[in-house]
Amino acid sequence: MNIEDITLLTSEAVAEAGGAADAAALEAVRIKYLGRNGRVNDIMAALKSAPPEQRKDYGQAANRFKTGVQAAIDARRDELESAPAAPSAAFDFTLPGIWPGTGRKHPITMIIDRACDIFRSMGFIVAEGPDIEDEFHNFDALNTPKIHPSRDPQDTFYLHTGQLLRTHTSPVQIRYMENHAPPVRIIAPGRAYRRDTTDATHSASFHQIEGLYVDREVSLANLKADLQFFLSRLMGRDIAIRMRPHFFPFTEPSVEIDFSCHVCGGKGCRVCKNSGWIEIAGAGMVDPNVFTAAGYNPDEVTGYAFGMGVERLAMIMYGVPDIRMLYENDVRFLAQF
Ligand code: DAH
Repeated sequence: MNIEDITLLTSEAVAEAGGAADAAALEAVRIKYLGRNGRVNDIMAALKSAPPEQRKDYGQAANRFKTGVQAAIDARRDELESAPAAPSAAFDFTLPGIWPGTGRKHPITMIIDRACDIFRSMGFIVAEGPDIEDEFHNFDALNTPKIHPSRDPQDTFYLHTGQLLRTHTSPVQIRYMENHAPPVRIIAPGRAYRRDTTDATHSASFHQIEGLYVDREVSLANLKADLQFFLSRLMGRDIAIRMRPHFFPFTEPSVEIDFSCHVCGGKGCRVCKNSGWIEIAGAGMVDPNVFTAAGYNPDEVTGYAFGMGVERLAMIMYGVPDIRMLYENDVRFLAQF
């Protein structure tokens, strides 16, 4: 091997490195020329047997080979790593990609978000309270007698601290009034807990949306108008409201609210069990005792309050037959909303 051979071999190797199609091909080039048994050995052998006066030239040629080939390999590696994969005949770039799947909001969250949006547009603000409550806020301040059945440990989860898991979102009314002077216009979405045995319509943990409007001369007419507006927005069609007399300790008078069926418009269908009406909320005019407990003067203010079940709303709106489907987190179910 003479110096010209070495120079020729150098350009050959540099060209091969530059043309390597991928990392594996590039590594093969490196092994072929610079590897332990590579062509570099021929060059070193030629260097050893070169006549003494040419040693220097051989040495330089050998160095040009080694550094030149290594540089070409490095340059090509950088290129391969930064360049997007070259199109190859084996891959059809017009095929649709594989969708990695995106999450979406749970139907319960969607309804709460929409309810908050609608009520915000009506001048309400969103308030929150703790899931772990005390008896005062959950019962006493809400005018619930000591002997009321809802206080029974069979119905309420008590903690060893004497606290309890709130059985409704109504205590948020009290907490808000304790800390804010009237007028008040709030809704309070959140979880509530009851010792119910789970079945198609009951769950020990569920969600409610509480509403409270306190000002001078608030009346049941305001309640009716506001809930009618809210439900019409939520359902996307004109909804009628009717009130049936009822009893809650914290309101006087108390009512249950029905709305005209969003599917048949009130004519009667499977969804409303042919009655044309669907029950949606408990409500009423805030009892004076509740105002007093929360630090308001019942002679100065009046207010309405309501509470509705979010799971129930979801089941009605989306035709979900079993409340448990809302908690199983089966993506095939959740992906439909
Ligand atoms: N707290 C009641 C329940 O869980 C619902 C309710 C009824 C809330 C009347 C209210 C109300 O604010 O005024 O069944």
